Amino acid sequence: MKKYIVTTLLFLFSGILVAQNIAKTIPGYKNSKLSINVRIADLLTRMTIQEKAGQLNQLNGGVFTGPALNDAGQKGKVQMVRDGKIGSFLNVIGAKETRNIQEVAVKESRLGIPLLFAFDVIHGYKTVFPIPLAEACSWDLKQIEINSSIAAKESAAAGLHWTFAPMVDISTDPRWGRVMEGAGEDTYYGTLVAAARVKGLQGNLDDVLHILACVKHYAAYGAVEAGREYNHVDVSRVGLWNKYLPTYKAAVDAGAATVMNSFNVVDGLPASANRYLIEDVLKKKWGFKGLIVSDWGSFGELINHGYADNEKDAALKSLNAGSMMDMESKVVIEHLPALVKEEKITMKQVDDAVSKVLYFKFKLGLFDDPYKFSDEVREKATLFSPENRAEALKAARGSIVLLKNNNQILPLNSSTKKIALVGSFAKSKEDLFDFWVANGVANDAVSIYEGLTAKLGASAVDYTAGYNLDNTTNDQLINQSVASANSSDVVVVTVGISGKLAGEERSLANINIPDAQVQLLKALQKTGKPIVVLVNSGRPLVLTQIQDLSTAIVQCWILGTEGGNAIADMLTGVYNPSGKTVMSFPYAVGQIPVYYNHFNTNRPAPDSGDGAWKSRYRDIPNEPLYPFGYGLSYTKFDYSNLQLSGNEMKKDGSIKVNITVKNTGTYDGDEVVQLYIRDFVSSIVRPVKELKGFQRINLKVGESKTVQFTLTGTDLSFYDENGNTKLEAGKFGVFVGGNSKQTLNGSFELK
Ligand code: BGC
Repeated sequence: MKKYIVTTLLFLFSGILVAQNIAKTIPGYKNSKLSINVRIADLLTRMTIQEKAGQLNQLNGGVFTGPALNDAGQKGKVQMVRDGKIGSFLNVIGAKETRNIQEVAVKESRLGIPLLFAFDVIHGYKTVFPIPLAEACSWDLKQIEINSSIAAKESAAAGLHWTFAPMVDISTDPRWGRVMEGAGEDTYYGTLVAAARVKGLQGNLDDVLHILACVKHYAAYGAVEAGREYNHVDVSRVGLWNKYLPTYKAAVDAGAATVMNSFNVVDGLPASANRYLIEDVLKKKWGFKGLIVSDWGSFGELINHGYADNEKDAALKSLNAGSMMDMESKVVIEHLPALVKEEKITMKQVDDAVSKVLYFKFKLGLFDDPYKFSDEVREKATLFSPENRAEALKAARGSIVLLKNNNQILPLNSSTKKIALVGSFAKSKEDLFDFWVANGVANDAVSIYEGLTAKLGASAVDYTAGYNLDNTTNDQLINQSVASANSSDVVVVTVGISGKLAGEERSLANINIPDAQVQLLKALQKTGKPIVVLVNSGRPLVLTQIQDLSTAIVQCWILGTEGGNAIADMLTGVYNPSGKTVMSFPYAVGQIPVYYNHFNTNRPAPDSGDGAWKSRYRDIPNEPLYPFGYGLSYTKFDYSNLQLSGNEMKKDGSIKVNITVKNTGTYDGDEVVQLYIRDFVSSIVRPVKELKGFQRINLKVGESKTVQFTLTGTDLSFYDENGNTKLEAGKFGVFVGGNSKQTLNGSFELK
């Protein structure tokens, strides 16, 4: 007993010593050898409830130097930092800006807790990469990881610690402007891209080259009704588990440090206050240990949803559901102290949430060196460096999808002496950029005109505007382009919609090619010259109207800084395109949502012939104009000899799928070989096709390769409505090809 008392006293005494030791090092806890958890626990004992609420408060920052500081709002925020009422800012960028306000936090606040700086770095910070949707069309996970790692490297040199990316929302609705941020319509592919993006952004978080990732928008935000931003979502549990949740899970499994709530409702409850999503699924089932941040104002907006009475109620419901940090609604900073006092929220809940914020501040090393990321010299050397631009060029080339190439008009050959380059987009640098370009400057980008003239010389390219950027045209503009076409060998026409119409709050009901451009194309077609159409857009547009007005169609998306160079490389054959679309191109707007992994229905329409009393449209085909996975090359690939290693597979076994692919064309090229399956009969109906593997291969002219895939139980299983995986015996179809539609088919039995 005596021994026990002595030991306890010794233990308590050493605890006091440790605590005092830490206290001496405030502010900054410099170079402490103690573990992060001990340091957090110590810090929590020193914090007031107001300071704890401050750590859960993230505000929009802006500029903290010069005249901007005289602004009452900015001054007020500086004071809040001094008072420990802000733990994190979004939109404070740059080594100098972040350092300035960090200094206030570290030197002038009571506990000197450093701030976290977050920013939407969606596809590059200063070197702007292709939009994520485009990048995903490369099916090049290595390059995707590199792109994210450069975005992180540049951000980390500009004072940032955290990006709100990757966005992993699956969506089948191109009316939604935010499809540009995701990886398309397929869940399986989305999981791989999500993981690659997280790895690229975060690395091991132990250097100054990486930053925290934030997987968003949890959950099912891509299912907004009618593609209208901020709209209602209503998905079944089975749909949620099989279609929407796997991409967030993949990002979490890849180590994403943070997760962002979505604006929408899931199963009647706003995502920010949805205990099922946050506590049951994210934390318990998936074991997520990181930080959960609201979307902009989404705690406060529980009131608009009709789910909270007032701001205090909104804070209560969000925090009680397991959400943690409040971005911009200020309901937590205002009401948390009272909620704790009234015992509606426990101190343990608060400490759990605050400790996540502190954990990442420690993990990033900010307590030891708060200015670690705010280094103007490194910033200057890193941003927009030639190496980063070289990767952006590779990424931009890989994003391009060749949709049509009649008469092998592309690549342009040496007999092409004069190109009529038509359309205002050809000179518009702004339209190589979208809404989310972080710190990118449009003027730094290479336009299509610049790219092409740099390659071919100014005299080979005759530019005419053809239409105005506001989508109007007139006889004079059209006549100039027609005259140019008449005196050229080939016409290259840029069409589409502004890059500024891609991104948040950019939903469109009409995604057809604008009338002015169609009118222009009709006039150009009469010249009889071959017409190559370059489509600029952050989403698949309806291209049906221009099908017959073009010899070739190239989907160029929004390619970023190196867009013009990439397009010039593709047109001239320096680069042979190998991108495959990750979203179906609708035949008509009325078809949306249209996607390859649809369900069979009770009355599937036949591929051809009489579709009476079947699930079909009377006026248009069921099929999209271009299916998922589709994209041409300058060469041709022939698929043959699909072979399965057996007719049967055991549940714990595997089956090998072999296919021979031959380059039968006249160019060396890359092909993305895709493997799909179908579960013919199951306890929950399954789609007609599901991607389960792909391989990117390079084939020289005449070369052939046998590509092998291995299917295991994981590939054949699905989720029930409670998120349990199910693997059921029965017949499975196997489909392999260069897109989701044209495949060689086989089958086997799962025993
Ligand atoms: C968007 C998020 C974004 C946040 C911060 C919100 O409106 O939905 O994706 O990260 O703003 O800018």
